[in-house]
Parts: sequence; structure tokens; C-alpha cells
Amino acid sequence: MNELDALVESAAQGFAQATTPADLENAKAVYLGKSGRITELMKGLAALPVEEKKTRGAIINQAKQAIEAALNARRQALADAELEAQLKAEALDVSLPGRRLGQGGLHPVSLTLERIEGIFGSMGFDVAQGPEIESDWFNFTALNTPEDHPARSMHDTFYVEGGTQAAPNLLRTHTSPMQIRHAVQHVRRYQALLDAGEPMPEIRVIAPGRTYRVDSDATHSPMFHQCEGLWIGANVSFKDLKVVFTDFCRTFFESDDLVLRFRPSFFPFTEPSAEIDIQFPSGPLAGRWLEVAGSGQVHPNVVRNMGLDPEKYIGFAFGMGPDRLTMLRYGVNDLRLFFDGDVRFLSQFQ
Ligand code: PHE
Repeated sequence: MNELDALVESAAQGFAQATTPADLENAKAVYLGKSGRITELMKGLAALPVEEKKTRGAIINQAKQAIEAALNARRQALADAELEAQLKAEALDVSLPGRRLGQGGLHPVSLTLERIEGIFGSMGFDVAQGPEIESDWFNFTALNTPEDHPARSMHDTFYVEGGTQAAPNLLRTHTSPMQIRHAVQHVRRYQALLDAGEPMPEIRVIAPGRTYRVDSDATHSPMFHQCEGLWIGANVSFKDLKVVFTDFCRTFFESDDLVLRFRPSFFPFTEPSAEIDIQFPSGPLAGRWLEVAGSGQVHPNVVRNMGLDPEKYIGFAFGMGPDRLTMLRYGVNDLRLFFDGDVRFLSQFQ
């Protein structure tokens, strides 16, 4: 191997050992730099006679081209390797599942309210909503519960000054004020018929919503839900209450064998009054009476406060607890779970 072939080979080896572009530029300088080996050989040509200069020059030039070719090949190899490394580092795993948006859903108590509205809707009941900040008049007085009535103490709530029809002053303790609000509106709409002594279309309504009392334990929350029901007409009896409510409960719990008990009780705004208990024929709650609602025949004083003649209009009302119904339907044993807002609990109802 002559001197120049050896030079080309050592240059190729030097380039091969360079693992970064900077190393490669340093290796290049050794051969092609200002005082590199090739440059030095070129300078040495000057001292040669003309003929020799030609042949020797051509050989050096060949060696130079070979070194440049080796350099370019190595440059390309390093660039390819760098790109390869970069692609690997930034690799996108297209088989990874994407990030889903969490799916929201209705609260279990909302599901129950929808269910209640659907069932009573199919029986011809309207759905009404009223204010949670209520006046003394609608919450108590109009419901035959005057200021000094002992029944008020069981309904303790937050009060501020006021209490006239126009000045709400308390957080409503039940949905029963909606009996008066809705009936008064209904009567106003049909006042002309009433004045003419014509029969008025029946009042048939449910009123779901939030209510407030001082209780707080595993089965009572200071904020809870109620759903009022009211049916007033010329000839609506306690028997109708039993039929409607029994039908509702059996549909709600999808059990034709569900048993109901109307247990005598007292409310100032109904007479007679009854608590409604249910009993499941089978399952973990079988054999126990479970209270689900208060009810009764609307008191004549309340019918009068609705703007109707109690000699001509009669009917029933009930107030049930959707929270309780939700607990029974899904087997939840602590009411507070509904209001803690823990998604691990709530997502089970989707
Ligand atoms: N409002 C009563 C309560 O909260 C329930 C009820 C409603 C009773 C309608 C009779 C008629 O306890």
C-alpha cells in the first residue's frame, strides 16, 4: 500500500471513530484543514519539477477526493443516526387509547324525581314548582297552622323578619305551601266559571322540590326533598287517595305485591290524616313497615284558603320523601351519601 492509500485509509478510520458532528469536524481538520496532511502534501508540490508536479498532483487530488467522499458519507451517517434517535425519543404510540371526557349523569334523587313525575304524569297530574324561600302564610298559616299552633315546633327552620304573602321570611319546611300557591292560581284562571256556578276543571298536581328542617342524622338531612300531591274536585274521596298512591308505589317499585298501610295520624291541614307505610313482599326489607308519605283529606279551612267553597270542593293531599324512596329503591342506607358529592358513589347510578 503506498503512502497516499494509507493516508486515505487512516482518514476513513478517523472519520468512522467520530460519533458526533463536532468530532467529525476535528477529524476532518487533520487531513483537509489549513495545516492538514493533504494541504501539507499540496504545498510540497511546489518544490517538484514540472512533470512530476503533474503526476504527483493528480495522485494527491485523487486521495483528497477519496477523503472528502469518506467525510461526506460519515456526515450523512451521523445525521441519519441523529434523526433516528430523535424519532425514537418522540415516538407516538398510536395504539394507546385516547383520553375520554368524563360522562356526567343525573343524581339518583333526580332520577327518582323524574320517575315520580313520569308516573303521576301518566295519571293526569301536572307538575308545579315553587319557591324554597317561602312566607309564613303559605308555609303555615294558610295550611291551618296559625302562629301559636304546636305543630310548628316540629317544623323548625331559619326565619327572618316579614312573613306576609309578599315578604318571604323562612326556608320552607315542606312542599305543602305549593297546595295553596297552585290552587290559588288555578282558581284565578277559572274564576269566571266559578262565578257562573259552572264546574271548574279539577286540580291535579304534584310539586317536587327542596325543603329544610333542623334534623340531621343518617336518615335526616337539614336539606331534603319532598314531593307534594294534590287532587281537588267536586267528588274526590279518600278512596281515590288509596287507589292513586297504591298504584304509584307499585309502579315505582315495580312490584304488584307491594302492600300499603294507611296509619291514622295528624296534620293540621288534613282531616282525616294518615301516614302511608309500605311493605315489600320479598327482598332484604321484607316484613318491615316503611313510612313513605304523610297524607289526608284536605281540611275545609285549607280549601277555603285556596279560594274554594269546602261545601262544593273536596280532595286529598300527600307529601312524600323522594330521598327515602331513592334509598329504598337502590338499597342505600345512609341519606348523607346523596349530598356528599362523592363521584365514586354517584357514578354507580349511571
Ligand atoms: N307536609 C307534611 C310533612 O311534611 C306531609 C303531608 C303533606 C301531610 C300533605 C298531609 C298532606 O310532614
